[in-house]
Amino acid sequence: MFASIRSFFRSSKRSNGKKKNRTPKEQEKKNEEMKEKFYERFQVGKKLGAGNFSVVKQARDTVEERDVAVKIMSKKKLTKEDKEAIKDEVAILKNLQHPNIIDLYGMFEDDQSYFVVTELVQGGELFDRIVEKEFYHESDAAAVIKLMATALGYLNENGVVHRDLKPENILLTDKNDDTTVKLADFGFAKEINPGGEGSELKTTCGTPGYVAPEIIMGKPYGKEVDMWSLGVITFILLCGYPPFYHENQAQLFKLIKKAKYKFDPEFWSEVSDDAKDLVKGLLVVNVEERFTVDDVLDHPWIKNGGCDKDITPALNELRGYQARRRLKKHMLAVKAIKKFEKAGGLAGVVKEKKHELAVTMPVDDMSTLDTVDDESIEVKE
Ligand SMILES: Nc1ncnc2c1ncn2[C@@H]1O[C@H](COP(=O)(O)OP(=O)(O)O)[C@@H](O)[C@H]1O
Ligand SMILES: [Mg+2]
Repeated sequence: MFASIRSFFRSSKRSNGKKKNRTPKEQEKKNEEMKEKFYERFQVGKKLGAGNFSVVKQARDTVEERDVAVKIMSKKKLTKEDKEAIKDEVAILKNLQHPNIIDLYGMFEDDQSYFVVTELVQGGELFDRIVEKEFYHESDAAAVIKLMATALGYLNENGVVHRDLKPENILLTDKNDDTTVKLADFGFAKEINPGGEGSELKTTCGTPGYVAPEIIMGKPYGKEVDMWSLGVITFILLCGYPPFYHENQAQLFKLIKKAKYKFDPEFWSEVSDDAKDLVKGLLVVNVEERFTVDDVLDHPWIKNGGCDKDITPALNELRGYQARRRLKKHMLAVKAIKKFEKAGGLAGVVKEKKHELAVTMPVDDMSTLDTVDDESIEVKE
């Protein structure tokens, strides 16, 4: 761990106190010094990805002599809450060490930006990889879900809830391995009691298609929200489109609150009953009844490593889904923020930080399904 993490926390504490009055010239010099510290050590290279307020680039750490990923966030665009969230993200990640969780190396800041330095993974986002493949088997999906469940088990033990599980935040370690995944983006992660019984969290956050019903309903919630998102991801891996979709966000939330989804025979007839059973166990509104990490790891579909069923048709769906998702991302970002601000956030939902909701809500949308006709949806028993 770099000493700079500690100095980051020290400096952030200090900034709560009295700010030093510098002349513009002194400030300029200070800025240059701070900037040099990061750019002196790291040679920043190509862009790897982007998030809401961040750009992630590959960099060479000349001190450790290794390639790393650096998430760069412009301070100008960040609110006080965002800055707090970054500190949380770093504080949480630095205590986590697991083969399927991105390793944090350190944090730097200069006058303009924060730099979160992590292990570099070279395989890109999980979904991008899957759509490149020509054949897809349930066993591939099962392998991924098993590793995700293992990582979530480790988070449970450490009292961490991720709260933003989705395909963009699941990264592959390298180009030649389709199943070794790493969980990234702890930007919304929160600490609860280790062992994690009970529901302590209240903040409304997540990404619409993946968010658990209890969050939408404004109930206090806990680690089970990650299991719900895992269910959504499993569903998508198996058929290529999301379980809950509606152009209208209020309608989408209605579907989620009732867990209204269906296994459309056109895409699901080839999928095994075991796989469906896992989805059914995860997409359960009642948190008490929802599968836990242990339930997933003990599930026959996971234990038997999925089956050999070829679910290649899901790939075509997934390709369309991915393309549309990318295209819509920017449009939606603007549209949804406006809409949410106008509506004052989720109707009737406890909003600790409306801001957080507005920031996460727009990022994703899924548009494989046509507008869903409420009546046509089967309620999962
Ligand atoms: N360690 C990493 N190695 C390679 N790519 C990464 C890494 N971390 C993030 N990325 C890429 O950058 C994107 C945004 O990173 P993320 O941490 O999710 O930021 P945000 O919190 O802004 O969503 C990811 O979806 C991924 O494509
Ligand atoms: Mg992200």
